[in-house]
Amino acid sequence: MATAKTVWFCTSCGNESPKWMGRCPACGEWNTMVEEPKKEKKSSAATRSRAFVATESDARPLTLGEISLTAENRFSIGLAEVDRLLGGGMVEGSMILLGGEPGIGKSTLALQIPLNCASLKTLYVSGEESPRQIKMRALRLGGDASSCSILSETILENILDQALAVRPDLLVVDSIQTIYSDELDSSAGSVSQVKECAARLLRFAKETGTPVILIGQITKDGSIAGPKVLEHIVDVVLQFEGDTRGAYRLLRSIKNRFGSTSELAVFEMTGSGLREVLNPSEILIPMHKDDLSGIAIASVMDGTRPFMLEIQSLVSSAAYGMPQRNANGFDVRRMNMLLAVLEKRAGFKLAAKDVFLNVAGGLRVTDPACDMAVAVAILSSNFDLSIPLDSCFCAEIGLSGELRPVSQVQRRIAEAKKIGFKRIYISSFNKEGSWDETGIEVVPVSDIPALCRLVFK
Ligand code: TYD
Ligand code: MG
Repeated sequence: MATAKTVWFCTSCGNESPKWMGRCPACGEWNTMVEEPKKEKKSSAATRSRAFVATESDARPLTLGEISLTAENRFSIGLAEVDRLLGGGMVEGSMILLGGEPGIGKSTLALQIPLNCASLKTLYVSGEESPRQIKMRALRLGGDASSCSILSETILENILDQALAVRPDLLVVDSIQTIYSDELDSSAGSVSQVKECAARLLRFAKETGTPVILIGQITKDGSIAGPKVLEHIVDVVLQFEGDTRGAYRLLRSIKNRFGSTSELAVFEMTGSGLREVLNPSEILIPMHKDDLSGIAIASVMDGTRPFMLEIQSLVSSAAYGMPQRNANGFDVRRMNMLLAVLEKRAGFKLAAKDVFLNVAGGLRVTDPACDMAVAVAILSSNFDLSIPLDSCFCAEIGLSGELRPVSQVQRRIAEAKKIGFKRIYISSFNKEGSWDETGIEVVPVSDIPALCRLVFK
């Protein structure tokens, strides 16, 4: 009987199946299975990745007490914000996946590292651009280019040979989808190639102690091609977000084996590369002087750092039977829930209104503390009554219309005060905390009707 020569892989999670399926049983995505030649090699990625953990044959289990705590060796990469995201610098032998949509600035950021940090001997492998193109980019970025070597190569074996010869302090591979191993039949960017190349580069990182930055393209649905496959192999996943047409980019750490996750750094794309924005509140709060309706400032906490953010809303009568609901940077289902709460618990008639919501700066917020600002921005636009720009909001809204407490309210109040706000509305359930009220009025509120009475006097 003929044996199967091909297998089917899910491009979303890397799940392998002997036959095609409309829906991947592992991740539940539809239409993601692609056919690829069966890998003939005996050594699978799993056995390989086991090999570097226990390269010495005398490996034996150690009790936790026996393990010495010589902390991992870290070094700064010259970009303070990226160092912070990594948990205080890059760890030797770590593998970092830098993901993002095309044109967002991944290659720019990776090239800025050696240019900013002249002591770091870097090998920048590009499968996408020629050395000339990279040189031109480096000239635009400025900085010291003496420590950075460029290799234009897509064959994994050659890259590893060169890396072993050059012995860099940092290896950058731009991008993982363009490189391929000669030992596999499938084409570059396929699930098995991405998996195999990443596993081999990981082995190089662990065996030589060289940190490796893998650049990964994100496909339209928001996942890095061969995505989950890479996410669990690598130590750190940094993801670029934001509107490529706008100037601001967000770098988020979504996985970090050496530090905390959900940290966020803001960058501005300028004519000479990415500039770190050390105080994001400054760019995210409004520039206009006049009081406009539909605008409210939220105190958002992304990771461990609070910042202030402008929420804009527009409410108008629906021109057609079916009202439109649209949100940029905010979960539209959560907005619908807040609209239902405003309607049912506070008696505002919004069912026949078009509601549009926008988070300034191209940011995507998930912090539930934004709820209060979203609700007051919608009401402000609905009544055409402006909210004083020296006020800001932080509370979650529950299904019964109650204002729920948020985490780290002290730090949010301190940030609001630092930026110059005169008033911050919080949930009255947060009142147990203690904070310094000099210079800022902290207003505890228990529900939406009470909030409206205070804000729209
Ligand atoms: P790039 O880093 O190549 O994006 P990626 O590798 O994620 O695909 O480029 C990002 C965009 O930034 C590109 O459209 C050009 C622009 N850019 C600047 O505005 N200023 C600069 O100094 C550089 C290098 C690029
Ligand atoms: Mg690029």
